[in-house]
Amino acid sequence: MELVFATNNSHKLSELRRICGDRFTILSLADIGCHDDIPETADTLAGNALIKARWVKERYGKDCFADDTGLMVDALDGAPGVYSARYAGEAHDSAANMKLLLENLRDVPAPRTARFVTVIALCLGGKETLFEGTVEGEILSEPCGEEGFGYDPVFRPQGCEGSFATMDADAKNAISHRGRATASLLSFLNQQLQ
Ligand code: IMP
Repeated sequence: MELVFATNNSHKLSELRRICGDRFTILSLADIGCHDDIPETADTLAGNALIKARWVKERYGKDCFADDTGLMVDALDGAPGVYSARYAGEAHDSAANMKLLLENLRDVPAPRTARFVTVIALCLGGKETLFEGTVEGEILSEPCGEEGFGYDPVFRPQGCEGSFATMDADAKNAISHRGRATASLLSFLNQQLQ
């Protein structure tokens, strides 16, 4: 089965392709010639994921899924949440986002509990379905590790020694928000193929 993943984020693509294996061919937006700046104007993760998946289905006629992820920090009343990508401004600069997060948590004692939440929206045939995955953890006092992307260096998943950025791809995928949401997506797709 061929499916478009409505992203051009190379980290997300390789995570997804690794999780999906050979049974599904995952195409990126660039692979289908889509260079649109798809708006992410909803105020929920599900809303943004649906905008992106519908955009591709309606304009390119292809079955598609899209994800939206937020980092919810308890001491910040759930911020940056749905605004995680542009926490420090429209530049979507991960280093600046992490710096601002650490500044805003400077006076908050450990553990600074937080969670990543991913919502995946799937447009398959005429049907829309949502999948969600969550990982609990805490925000470290300083970045640690070189792997991954985004907020990975400052997020330590519950029960783990180091941040997501200290883990290899398989270890992260096994417990991550996107790994869990994708597992639900895959089990749904496998049922459809039976
Ligand atoms: P989006 O889902 O691509 O809009 O991601 C929202 C924000 O969360 C961006 O700043 C991403 O870099 C960050 N983000 C998304 N997924 C992850 C992840 O798995 N680890 C760390 N940061 C992430």
